[in-house]
Amino acid sequence: MKNLHKSFGDNHVLNGFNLKLYEGENLVVMGKSGAGKSVMIKCLVGLMQPDSGSITINDHDITAVGHDELDMLRTEIGFLFQGSALYDSMTVRENLEFPLRHHKDKIKNFQGTEFLVREALANVGLENAIDLMPSELSGGMQRRVALARALILKPKIIMYDEPTTGLDPITAKEIIQLMRTIQDKYRTSSLIITHDVDCARVIANRMILLIDGINYIEGTFAELSASKDEKVRAFFKN
Ligand SMILES: Nc1ncnc2c1ncn2[C@@H]1O[C@H](COP(=O)(O)OP(=O)(O)OP(=O)(O)O)[C@@H](O)[C@H]1O
Ligand SMILES: [Mg+2]
Repeated sequence: MKNLHKSFGDNHVLNGFNLKLYEGENLVVMGKSGAGKSVMIKCLVGLMQPDSGSITINDHDITAVGHDELDMLRTEIGFLFQGSALYDSMTVRENLEFPLRHHKDKIKNFQGTEFLVREALANVGLENAIDLMPSELSGGMQRRVALARALILKPKIIMYDEPTTGLDPITAKEIIQLMRTIQDKYRTSSLIITHDVDCARVIANRMILLIDGINYIEGTFAELSASKDEKVRAFFKN
């Protein structure tokens, strides 16, 4: 993302935000509530149009591509929404089949829907939940199903919007561990949005702090947590 701007009326949320995600890395973006993290990630996946700036994914300018090309690109990108955003009226199986049905072309080379659904659930340790409704799952289980759904098309890039928010510390740790295991297995590049410092410490190869609508500071967890800048220190002192 280069020089991204996005405003809602007088609310200037992004004021020239830059971000580069390298192959195979876990990049964490931290920012306080309302800083514009979800807005940024929605621009990145084409759910929201930036006012200006450019976004390139795998050499495609996503602000310029047509609907079909954007759809194709979306199969390369997994997105774990803030919350879990499962379809309440569908079973776990149907939730996982949904992206498969939408992207029939991509899965032609895969081993069939049933196999993919079971494999995705096995990856998150929830094979037995296949016929349950989301309302019958705990919050942590819902997050796992959402993770399975985000990964079912074996995307090259996965974006997580607040993967641990709303979970107890132990379940949050399990989800982080799961993210790491899955990334090792499929060698995905990951963009992780969080305000969970523990999550960042464990998973980040590199971090960006989103402050005042810009990439205020970048570096490793160790570098950022040692910063003398007041705005940066605010994230790390507890
Ligand atoms: N569709 C919208 N219309 C108008 N304003 C919006 C819209 N979406 C977001 N905003 C505003 O943009 C700002 C950033 O919101 P955003 O959801 O990106 O915050 P965030 O950093 O993800 O916060 P949190 O950590 O609480 O999830 C907020 O002031 C919000 O009110
Ligand atoms: Mg958000």
